[in-house]
Amino acid sequence: MLLNHKTAVIHGAGGAIGGAVARAFARAGARVFLAGRTPAKLDAVARDIRAAGGTAETAVVEALDEQAVERHADAVAAQAGGIDIALNAVGVFHVQGTPFARLSLEDYAYPVTVYTRTNFITAKAAARHMAKRGSGVVLMLTTPASRMPGPGFLGHSVACAGVEAMTRHLAGELGPDGIRVLCLRSHAIPEATAPALGSHCRDVFRQVAEPAGMSIGDMLAGAATGTLLKRLPTLDQVAATAVFLASEQAGAMTGAIANLTCGMSLD
Ligand SMILES: NC(=O)c1ccc[n+]([C@@H]2O[C@H](COP(=O)([O-])OP(=O)(O)OC[C@H]3O[C@@H](n4cnc5c(N)ncnc54)[C@H](OP(=O)(O)O)[C@@H]3O)[C@@H](O)[C@H]2O)c1
Repeated sequence: MLLNHKTAVIHGAGGAIGGAVARAFARAGARVFLAGRTPAKLDAVARDIRAAGGTAETAVVEALDEQAVERHADAVAAQAGGIDIALNAVGVFHVQGTPFARLSLEDYAYPVTVYTRTNFITAKAAARHMAKRGSGVVLMLTTPASRMPGPGFLGHSVACAGVEAMTRHLAGELGPDGIRVLCLRSHAIPEATAPALGSHCRDVFRQVAEPAGMSIGDMLAGAATGTLLKRLPTLDQVAATAVFLASEQAGAMTGAIANLTCGMSLD
């Protein structure tokens, strides 16, 4: 299996993408450490993994608390002998659909601050342990907002562009330690999967869909028609790509943004 004997830490593991990737990592043979804020969400993912014969442990960890994340990384490394893979799948509600002229500084800065801070914190905590063994993979998540002109999502656009810049920069800094750093840029996951699983995206999308008189499903169907493939990525496709990027099969890749937009944006 692709991730046999690997130890993976996932922040935001109770979420739609974090949970899907955690299940896929476990199916690929990894021992997974699930971190998040809501025990019930983490326990549900852990139960699925154990029922399928995998190994999962859970911990409540605030991913914006540097010391808490470092303590968790130290505990995982002590228990498992190191950390091979770290994924940040944290997601938060942010204002979308408000044009620049009416956007408050606070609403602009919130996603920029949260996403760049939490990815900094979780990557740094894991990289300390990876560097000791001279290997590891740090994975981040963004959306096509990183490359899209507006209007209406300036804060999220800058947040995603910042995380992608962090991916490239850290790949340069951590490469000599044998650590690969990669980002998955996924288009919106269809309503039947991520929003239905309780993703914060439902509330983000609603801010744009409702004023336009559309359901979230209609809005995402419209987004699908704007891609080259005329569809949106699935959770399984995002999770399978994460498994590949974390595996030795992607051993030549670092500093790259995996484009999972179904051709909505081309690099
Ligand atoms: N869903 C999509 O369509 C899509 C597409 C492309 C990229 N993405 C990106 O993928 C990431 C995850 O999205 P998602 O749809 O999986 O979101 P989600 O289902 O809402 O999950 C996000 C998770 O982050 C956790 N979280 C939030 N703040 C936290 C904090 N301070 N400390 C620890 N955990 C925290 C939440 O825990 P609690 O619920 O316990 O608060 C939740 O489990 C986001 O960066 C998003 O932008 C999503």
